[in-house]
Amino acid sequence: MPGIRGPSEYSQEPPRHPCLKINSKEPFNAEPPRAALVSSYVTPVDLFYKRNHGPIPVVDDLERYCVSITGLQGAEKTLSMKDIWNLPKYTIAATLQCAGNRRTAMSSTKQVRGVGWDIAALGNAVWGGAKLADVLQLVGIPYNSRVTPSGGKHVEFVSIDKCKEENGGPYKASITLSQATNPEADVLLAYEMNGETLNRDHGYPLRGIVPGVIGARSVKWLDSINIIAEECQGFFMQKDYKTFPPSVNWDNIDWSTRRPQMDFPVQCAICSLEDENIVPTSKITVQGYAASGGGRGIERVDVSIDGGKTWVEASRYQKPGVPYTADDESNSDKWAWVLFEAEVNIPKNAVIVAKAVDTAANVQPENVETIWNLRGILNTSWHRVNVKVSHSNL
Ligand code: MTE
Repeated sequence: MPGIRGPSEYSQEPPRHPCLKINSKEPFNAEPPRAALVSSYVTPVDLFYKRNHGPIPVVDDLERYCVSITGLQGAEKTLSMKDIWNLPKYTIAATLQCAGNRRTAMSSTKQVRGVGWDIAALGNAVWGGAKLADVLQLVGIPYNSRVTPSGGKHVEFVSIDKCKEENGGPYKASITLSQATNPEADVLLAYEMNGETLNRDHGYPLRGIVPGVIGARSVKWLDSINIIAEECQGFFMQKDYKTFPPSVNWDNIDWSTRRPQMDFPVQCAICSLEDENIVPTSKITVQGYAASGGGRGIERVDVSIDGGKTWVEASRYQKPGVPYTADDESNSDKWAWVLFEAEVNIPKNAVIVAKAVDTAANVQPENVETIWNLRGILNTSWHRVNVKVSHSNL
């Protein structure tokens, strides 16, 4: 496509915030310090985690940039940025979470393969853009379609970037046509993040945002959108981002036995403390995030100071000072995380634990061993940190 380059090496990477913890330099994968996540409900763009599989594409001629839509009844359609800007604009707060969030801790049971991540491979942003349902309606596919007259049941997003897993081809993923054409699912073609033009790291000029679903399906730097009969056959749908039972290893794995992971399960983590802490007083405030997939809200966050024997309920909020309620009538952000806070009085040595319960009463598993999988995805086990009080003012 004119005006676009997908560099095959890393000479044109954008500048990045020096506070980011780099988990892999090329491709660039980095997360902010834990504490940054709870200092604001909306994560600043420069502190938002970056998850890439290849070099960041260069789009230097927006006038000539366009997205092609194929698999339609008639001829392929091409949409320019102007066509997308002309559609109604929506701003949606949504948490994006990498399925590999907390992967490093999964390796403590048994080594897993993949980029290591602490607990900050997620962030909450306000995405601005057109609804995919409106874009598809514009090209002739009505709202809430399950199948097109020519048998299309899935919507595939294909990027401009180049990654080695696709043998130098582009990153791609798909969602179902029913999700894509459901205006209530809030799937966006986003061109803004937190009120600013999307930056290069996060998908400039246009990316998909699929709320409530693992980050891998929110394809950046869109090149084409294809209406297809079967789900996308790309590497990241078929040979990655699937969960397997703990008994499956690299010798007996059969990727075709599992479906691509879509919704994110319930998750929470403590961000105001590191894994090991020495604190001056026994009165401390425990803060963190909680989020679930599929638009399910957070019903409760429990915090323990004795390794999980007894629990107190944390307070939850999205807007500071406004208690959070997960019901549809409230003005809570359905697709966004909930921050939590609990004041606790700890003994000299404490194991502080947090676990969240979502509105479907799904709860995080106690131990990582039971959900161990060879690719190290979806570590949603109880989050634990160790705290010692340095003064004997107990
Ligand atoms: N889109 C493209 N084109 N290339 C990628 O490498 N990574 C995916 C997704 N979309 C990726 C992509 C993954 S695994 C995640 S978790 C999110 O983008 C990360 O988005 P972010 O870097 O904006 O945080």
